[in-house]
Amino acid sequence: MAILVTGGAGYIGSHTCVEMINAGYDVIVVDNLDNSSSESLKRVEQITGKAVPFYREDVRNKEAIRKIFKENQIEAVIHFAGLKAVGESVREPIMYYDNNLFNTITLLEVMNEYGVKKIVFSSSATVYGIATEMPLKEGMPLGAINPYGRTKYFIEEILRDLYVADSGWCIALLRYFNPIGAHKSGLIGEDPKGIPNNLMPYISQVAVGKLEKLHVFGNDYNTVDGTGVRDYIHVVDLAIGHVKAVDWALQHTGCEAFNLGTGNGTSVLQLRNAFVEATGVEVPYVIDPRRPGDPDEVYADATKAKEVLGWTAKYGVKEMCEDTWRWQKSNPNGFEK
Ligand code: NAD
Ligand code: WQD
Repeated sequence: MAILVTGGAGYIGSHTCVEMINAGYDVIVVDNLDNSSSESLKRVEQITGKAVPFYREDVRNKEAIRKIFKENQIEAVIHFAGLKAVGESVREPIMYYDNNLFNTITLLEVMNEYGVKKIVFSSSATVYGIATEMPLKEGMPLGAINPYGRTKYFIEEILRDLYVADSGWCIALLRYFNPIGAHKSGLIGEDPKGIPNNLMPYISQVAVGKLEKLHVFGNDYNTVDGTGVRDYIHVVDLAIGHVKAVDWALQHTGCEAFNLGTGNGTSVLQLRNAFVEATGVEVPYVIDPRRPGDPDEVYADATKAKEVLGWTAKYGVKEMCEDTWRWQKSNPNGFEK
């Protein structure tokens, strides 16, 4: 029996493959490589010493997905495949709805056909929309403020409806906070195409000399030092959260959301300073205007994941910075040689 990992060549998917294999699972990956490289899977094989069967397919292609289910004994799916850039989703909403919603619906149809009713879905803290209270708890009201966020919110609703219609399913909606860091080996990590949108890859590309300086988006927020506060989580902790969610899904039925965060908030300048301290490399910065739509603070209450899944994040910001840097300095151009 195997676990199908959609989007498994990507940043979180590749780290999750490593942890799933370490936990004794067989994984099969399907990815169209739109935002990744098959080199990441070779590195997963190098780290684990296990072969990772790979299908280069789009999850919207129903016949291709059927073929994967026909050729393999799949007992559960971890569904990462999708587009994830907030700004791009505002410019190209149809592309986001087309990919994220249709790939999920196609996948669910094929899973139903084959009687595979266990799914772990990559949701996001973005489904809380503009929250008025912190930390965020799973029972708080949901909403979304951009097309990307709405795709996550709509998919959660679809999955909740599916469970109402058929209580034989087990669905884990994992709401990630801000994943950063890389595997300790330095062999896999985040490899954004073009100029990074997110803070940590931007910092590490300044450190490696690919970008000139960090642009801090606003220093007049209602936070510890005026810069935005987020709940950064080490990608390996996040990956282990998926292992725990699969363990849980294989033993239960239900539809449950789980926050995967550390519960700790870190500001932009705190993260930049922690990176400089952990690596000894300078990261020059300037203060720029706020980025539209950015909230002051976002952090998780991750008690439910601890109580139900037996999961808590282990790594702190120092390790997140050290591990990001190990990956970035040994792979300045990501997976491209
Ligand atoms: P990523 O882009 O590195 O990985 C996504 C993978 O899915 C890529 O390898 C891409 O090629 C593949 N893909 C996209 N559309 C596909 C399709 N139709 N068929 C097959 N493959 C397809 O992104 P990531 O950071 O690893 O994120 C994984 C998931 O987690 C995404 O669903 C994302 O929305 C979600 N998420 C990410 C973050 C974050 O900050 N990185 C936060 C919350 C949620
Ligand atoms: C973090 C902080 C910025 C870049 C996004 C998505 C969210 C989720 C994770 C998928 C903020 C500041 C950033 C820079 C900066 N993705 N910043 N200079 O916005 O919390 O979350 O990624 O689900 O949906 O919205 O993450 O890393 O972009 O920003 O000052 O160059 O860093 O203003 O305060 P964010 P981020």
